[in-house]
Amino acid sequence: MPAEIIDGLQIAKKVHNEVRESVEALKRESSVRPGLAVVLVGDDPASRSYVTRKERACKEVGIYTETFVKRADITEDELVGLVGDLNADRRFHGILVQLPLPPHISADAIIGAIDPAKDVDGLHPVNAGLLVQGTPRFVPATPLGVQRMLIEHGVDTSGAEVVILGRSNLVGRPLSLLLTQRGPGGDATVTVCHTRSLGVARHTLAADVVIAAAGSPGTVTADMVGSDAVVIDVGVTRVADPSRKSGFRLAGDVDFDAVSEKVSAITPVPGGVGPMTVAMLLHNVLLAHQLQCGG
Ligand code: GUN
Repeated sequence: MPAEIIDGLQIAKKVHNEVRESVEALKRESSVRPGLAVVLVGDDPASRSYVTRKERACKEVGIYTETFVKRADITEDELVGLVGDLNADRRFHGILVQLPLPPHISADAIIGAIDPAKDVDGLHPVNAGLLVQGTPRFVPATPLGVQRMLIEHGVDTSGAEVVILGRSNLVGRPLSLLLTQRGPGGDATVTVCHTRSLGVARHTLAADVVIAAAGSPGTVTADMVGSDAVVIDVGVTRVADPSRKSGFRLAGDVDFDAVSEKVSAITPVPGGVGPMTVAMLLHNVLLAHQLQCGG
């Protein structure tokens, strides 16, 4: 039987509505709207497209947003300076520096310059540390979105065997910590596989939930998953496709056609995790506003 499709667009819409209602309630009580500053360096088309989606989503729910576009040859010091200005700018409760940055700029230096109270990406060492200690504040949006999808789909993670493919600071590592927290959407037994892991299929075959965040199409094939598994595909790779007007299509990490014939539930690409990343960013901006303004 084909898998149930876990519809990220639908769940993201629900989160957008929740955030919109909270923003409207805030507007009735206070003159300070939640605000997000986005920093985009260079002209990578994928990054530009992600930033456009984030801007649009902010506007739809009533979050004030401005995007600061900088040339790819900006220096690290100049970018640290911009982040410092945004830290001090009271219009912005959240700051997001779109990654990746050009190779001459240290992402760690830039992330480290963001005020942890405005770090809605949850990448600053203070926020990463809070998650490690089991007292999360800002959690990166993609892991938060994956967890929300599992909860909304009724997947009981307590005691479940979860295998995550990928150990990035943006997805795999924080997700492993999130799913091992105590409480709803947590309490899982998590295995993290990565580029040096041996016998990955041995792990995925035994998993109740497989989360692919490797960034490489074709990473998960049908012979790697069990028939009752839930499969979450975090991958989004632009693959050349001359039949499309844009010249490309988006490919996940999972061989969707074959895997969806075997497992119990699966997320599509596009329309799966991607919209959830944007939705949970909005959630984090609202949280930042609440923490700073006591809303
Ligand atoms: N690049 C790809 N995903 C993300 C994200 O969630 N946050 C930031 N800042 N950059 C990204």
